[in-house]
Order: sequence, then C-alpha cells, then structure tokens
Amino acid sequence: MSELVSLSRDNEVAIITVNNPPVNALSPGVPEGIAAAIEAITADAAIQAAVLIGGGRTFIAGADIKEFAKIRAGQKKDIGLSQIIARIEDCPKPVVAAIHGTALGGGLETALGCHYRVAVASAKVGQPEVKLGIIPGAGGTQRLPRLCGIPKAAVLCSVGDPIGAAEALELGIVDAIIEGDLLQGAIAFARARAAAGEAARRTCDLTSRLGDSDANKPALDAARADAARRFRGQRAPLVAIDAVAACATLPFDQGMAYEREEFEKLLKSSQSAAMIHAFFGERAVAKVPGVTKDTRTYDIRRAAVVGAGTMGGGIAMALANAGIPVLLKESSQEALDRGMATIRANYEGSVARGRLSASAAASRLALITPQISYDGFEQADLVIEAVFEGMALKKQVFAELDAICKPDCVLASNTSTLSIDEIASATGRPQMVIGTHFFSPANVMRLLEIVRGAATAPEVIATAMGLARTVKKVGVLVGNCRGFVGNRMFHPYRREAQFLVEEGATPAQVDQALYNFGMAMGPLATGDLAGLDVGWRIRKEYAHLNNPGERQPLVEDALCEAGRYGQKTRAGWYRYDEKRQSSADPAVDAIIEAARAQAGIVPREISAEEITERIIYALVNEGARILEEGFALRSVDIDMIYLTGYGFPVWRGGPMFHASLTGLGVVLERIREFERLHGAHWAPAPLLVRLAEEGRGFESLDG
Ligand code: 3HC
Ligand code: NAI
Repeated sequence: MSELVSLSRDNEVAIITVNNPPVNALSPGVPEGIAAAIEAITADAAIQAAVLIGGGRTFIAGADIKEFAKIRAGQKKDIGLSQIIARIEDCPKPVVAAIHGTALGGGLETALGCHYRVAVASAKVGQPEVKLGIIPGAGGTQRLPRLCGIPKAAVLCSVGDPIGAAEALELGIVDAIIEGDLLQGAIAFARARAAAGEAARRTCDLTSRLGDSDANKPALDAARADAARRFRGQRAPLVAIDAVAACATLPFDQGMAYEREEFEKLLKSSQSAAMIHAFFGERAVAKVPGVTKDTRTYDIRRAAVVGAGTMGGGIAMALANAGIPVLLKESSQEALDRGMATIRANYEGSVARGRLSASAAASRLALITPQISYDGFEQADLVIEAVFEGMALKKQVFAELDAICKPDCVLASNTSTLSIDEIASATGRPQMVIGTHFFSPANVMRLLEIVRGAATAPEVIATAMGLARTVKKVGVLVGNCRGFVGNRMFHPYRREAQFLVEEGATPAQVDQALYNFGMAMGPLATGDLAGLDVGWRIRKEYAHLNNPGERQPLVEDALCEAGRYGQKTRAGWYRYDEKRQSSADPAVDAIIEAARAQAGIVPREISAEEITERIIYALVNEGARILEEGFALRSVDIDMIYLTGYGFPVWRGGPMFHASLTGLGVVLERIREFERLHGAHWAPAPLLVRLAEEGRGFESLDG
C-alpha cells in the first residue's frame, strides 16, 4: 500500500492499518491508502472481511486540520473524504472499525462508513468539528443519526464533546466493546460476521432510528436553545443541528449534499479561521524557545501555598484537583478558617451541582493541609505565594521561604503587578523564582500566565509549563513588565470604556456593545465583578507615574470615593440586588455628570461601532507594543491569554488575530483618527504601523 496505510492478513480477514503519527489524522495519502486497500480487498476472493485499525496510540483523530488552510486559500478543492468513505461502505465484504484512543471528526465518520464498529472500553468517539467553527463534512451529520437517532446526534454534533465507549455502545454507535487485545477481538468479530454470511450493513441504508419530524422537534428545539446560549455568536453549532435534522426529511444523498455545502461555507468563514487559529494556538504556546523535551523539570509531588485568600484558596484547589498534596499557610487562624470555609463551600457546591462525587470532593479536600506555620515547607517541591499585593510583604515572605525551602524548590509568586525580579532579589536563588499568575477563580479559569524573571532558569520555566498541563490550564510564558501581558492590555481597554462614558455613552451602552461583540461580559460590569477598589488603590499608589497632561479617567475613582466598589458593596457602575442582578443607578448618572462637568465635556451620542472599535483597538495597540518589546513570545500567545483568561470570543480568535483579519491598515487608520480626536494615548504602536505599511498581519511574525 503506502507508508501511511498498510494492508496485512490474518487468514481470510484483511487488516488495514493507518500509520500517521501522532494522531493518525487523514492527511493526504491516508484516505487514498484506505481506498486502495478496500479495492484490493474487494478484488481478492480469498478475503472474507476486513478490520480498519489505527497504529500507535489512537484510531483516526480526524481530518488533517492543516489542510483546511489550503482549501480556504483555493489551493485544494476539498478534503475528498466522503467519496472514500462511500467506497468503504460499498465494499461487499464486512469492514469493522477497531477503535482505541479517539475516533474524532473525520475519524468517526470513517468508522461510521464501516459496517461495524468495535472499541476498547477506554476509547472515545465524537464529532468535535464545531470546536473548529465547522460541521462534520464527511457524513457525520447524516450517518450518526441513523445509528443513534436525531436528538442525540444533534447534541453530539452541536456540542462537540466526545463520549466514552460504554455510552457509544448504549447509543448504538458502537457494536461491541472488546476486552483484551483489540485487533484480535476485532478480527474475531469480523470473522463471525463473514461466517454468518450477512450482507454488509451500510449505515446509509438504516432509517429505523430516524423518527419523524414532529417527534424530533422538541429535542431539536431544546438543542438549538442550548447551543444559542452556550455558544453565543457561533454559527456552526446551529448549522450542525439543521444538518442533522435534515436527515429526517432528505434522502441520504441529498442530505450529504446539504451537509457538504454547509461545511464548505463554514470552512471559508472567519469564525472557523479564528477557531482553528485557537486550536493550534493552544498547542503553540506550549513551545518555548530554549525549553525542549530534554530540558530537566522538577517533579512536583508536594506543593505549598502561602495565603488562603481569594487566590490562594483557588490555587490550592487547582493543585488538589490534580492530585497534588498541598500545605496551605495563612497568617492567622481566623483568616485560615475563612479560607478553608470557602474551599469547603466550593467543593460542596460542585457536589450539589452533580459535577463531583462526594467521595472525590472529600479526597481532594483531604489533600489540603491548613496551617499557620511553615511546618513541612522544607519538603515542598513548589511554593506559590498569594499574599496581599505589596512589595514589602512579598519580599518578606520570599526571604522566609528562601530560609526554609530546599534548594531545588520552585518559588512562585501569584502577583498580578509586581516585578518578579525584585521579589526574587529577596532570595539567594533568583534562578528558582518565577511568576505563576492564576486568574480568578483560580480553580476554574484556564489561563496561567507564567512570568519569567531575568534570572529564571529554563528548568524552572519548563517545570511551570508542566505544572500548567498538570492542573489542566493553558500556560503562557510572558516577560516581566508591569501587569505582564493580560493586565497590561486590560488597563487601556478598561480606561477607554470609561472615557466613552465620560463622552456620552451610558455604562449599559458600553457593556452591551462589547457583549454583542462577543465578550463574556462588558468592561464596566467586569470591573464591578472584580472590585473597583483594587485598581483605585493601584492608581493612587502609582499616580506619580502618570504622564503629565495625559487624560486620566475620572468616574471610577469617584465611584470608589462614594464607597461603590462593585458587586461586593452591591453598588459600582450598576446597583445590584440580593441576587446580584444589575440595574442602572441614577446615583451613577449624577457621578458621571459631575465628571463630565469637571472635564468640560459636552456629551454626545456614541455609536456601538465606535464603542467597540475604541475599546478593542486599545487592546490591540497595547498588544502590539508588548509584542515589539518582547514581553510576549508570539502574537498567538497574546490571543490565547485573552481567549482563556479574559472572555474574548473564541470565534474571533483573540485580539491580535481579530485585528489581522480586519486588516491592520484599517485598524491603523482608525487608531490615527482616535489619536487626532482623543489625544496622545492613542499614538499607534510602531510595530502596528510597520506591519500595516507592509500589508502584513501579526501572525506573519509568529513563524
Ligand atoms: N490535524 C492535524 N494535526 C493534528 C490533529 C488534526 N486533526 N489533531 C492533532 N494534531 C496535532 C497537534 O497539533 C499536535 O501537533 P504538535 O505536536 O506539532 O503540537 C499533535 O497532533 C498532537 O496533538 P495533541 O498535543 O493535541 O495530542 P493529545 O494527545 O493531547 O490529544 C487529540 C489528541 C485528542 C486527538 C487532540 O489532538 C485533538 O482533539 N485533535 C483534534 C481532533 C479534531 O478536531 N478532529 C476533527 C478534525 S475536523 C474533521 O475531521 C472534519 C471532517 O468532518 C471532514
Ligand atoms: P486576598 O486579600 O483575598 O488574600 C490574601 C491573603 O494573604 C489573606 O488571606 C491574608 O491573610 C494572607 N496573608 C497575608 N500575609 C500573609 C503571610 N505572611 N502568610 C500567610 N498569609 C498571609 O488577596 P487575593 O485577591 O487572593 O490576592 C493574592 C495575590 O494574588 C495578590 O498578589 C494579587 O495581586 C494576586 N491576584 C489576585 C487576583 C484576584 O482576582 N483577586 C487575580 C490574580 C492575581
């Protein structure tokens, strides 16, 4: 056959093996190899049945996603998989898919084209295409419902999460679970089918599970409502449901044509470009120059956390959730009890919502040892400090840790603004010191900004990147500048939101515009959630660093001076009822009016478009500076920070990708106009100017 697909025999059963590591994607040559094998099997009278299996760690994990860019660029017509799956299905001899690892996307579609599917108990199957902004494009929406019914197929194709083999068996997607050796079990299964002399069972011919439109309607309506809520702004999930629904009304071939047309439209959409960027981005950020597979890492068997407040408690949970025992140190018994009560309540909440079993919650809780001393810290492999944000206190804690912890213990700080180098200077081992900037709530948010100091050793960086994987987070390495990457960009983003209010927009107009853009929450509502007083204190402390004459926002300080700190005081930009529902507050209008009068601003009508452009481009402009100054490795690192830590819509690919897709020339033109109208803080980043002039996007720098 070919190197990618081999054909062997076990007496009268042929074995087709796909060998395209690491995940047996359907790269060019694989579908063709399978088709050639089917042809050979059909022609060989001595062969009675066949098994299709993946070599290495998995069955086929899907189409080769890298090929999609070629289709979009018009260099390739289509992925050509449907025709090959049809050839498998038309093979007169029973073909059995033998599944281990994952059968995803085009991989599951290939298996659906086989006449039977068997799997090991640990296998997973799914149609995750919607996570790439597309729908199944090789029959998934048409064959899957024929096996498991329209309601279930609609959920599988619109949500995209894989299911385990046991559930797949129950649903009729898989025909048998194989105990012991998969290949031998699959050969025996295929042999039995051939011996029974049954005609090959083509999935496309099955109709008994399709039901009728009336019967399926409530389930489809529910799936649509769920998808519209969970994947707000995304097109693919709803299109996937329509394609599955078409199964009940269209003959198979027409259903396939419908699916193909929708698949191709989505593949060419900006949404799928953005989501594919995010898929590869998640893997790209794990790659750090100077850190290779051979870089030594420290085993994190025992960890410790200093400070059991908002962040320390969440970090302790994240470690315990990954099975790492953690000592949790506070400065007083009272603060410790408070911190542990919150942790317990969080676990109880997860149990009550059915997300965690009571026994799993109990064993996670048991991994956290609360204490008010440094007892046992000498055995810790990693300590994460999460005390109040203040340099003197951080330095004192690090000096104490330096005296107690073993020499190869990684010392990490969760600081959100302070210099890692200055913190490290309190120790005699700055090479072991690093920033691990978790996001609130630390046990939930996926982002972990990993801040490298000037002296941080590559082994310590590699260990922190490994820790991110262990605690199931996306670790992004950033440099040591004020606010690092995420918060440094968030500052101009939120500042612009305030300027817009001062110029005439209402807080609700600002938040609604950004929500409509796709942000999980508007910038002012986010401030209320996080606490307006945090920024207020920082602004007061660092007021001396402001550029003289540069415009400063006025309203948020005035809100804080009036005791309006956000949700925690049930008053901030909005007022909040006991259920934390927000509403506009006339008292805020009065504060805004006063700020406008103080600044001499005559309010004007501001369009949603201007609101969105000013706030998003403020983010982009600062991102460009960060990139140029080298505090982010690549533009995709910035995108991943915003996608996983700040609620930026995945279907826009992150701020830098969004700007590149819009066209940096267009973005620059607007920024120059904002500079003319609103002042020096809008000076365009030199990198943005250069790329715009060269007609390039940020991603062209990423390599
Ligand atoms: N195409 C191209 N490359 C792929 C790929 C795919 N479908 N799936 C994984 N890869 C690459 C990754 O980019 C990574 O490359 P790198 O080492 O250079 O960074 C490498 O394979 C290993 O991947 P992971 O690091 O993700 O390995 P894991 O073991 O953690 O996860 C996996 C394996 C669960 C298979 C995961 O890679 C995954 O979810 N892949 C995507 C599956 C998918 O979306 N399939 C559907 C594709 S669309 C489709 O099939 C359309 C069809 O309907 C026509
Ligand atoms: P917090 O005020 O909720 O908790 C700090 C805790 O540290 C308090 O419980 C305090 O008693 C304890 N503490 C103080 N000195 C201590 C000592 N010497 N030993 C042990 N415990 C001590 O503060 P929060 O919000 O948890 O912040 C902690 C750190 O995380 C700060 O550096 C902050 O900038 C950073 N951060 C905060 C985020 C947030 O959203 N709250 C997000 C990301 C980072």
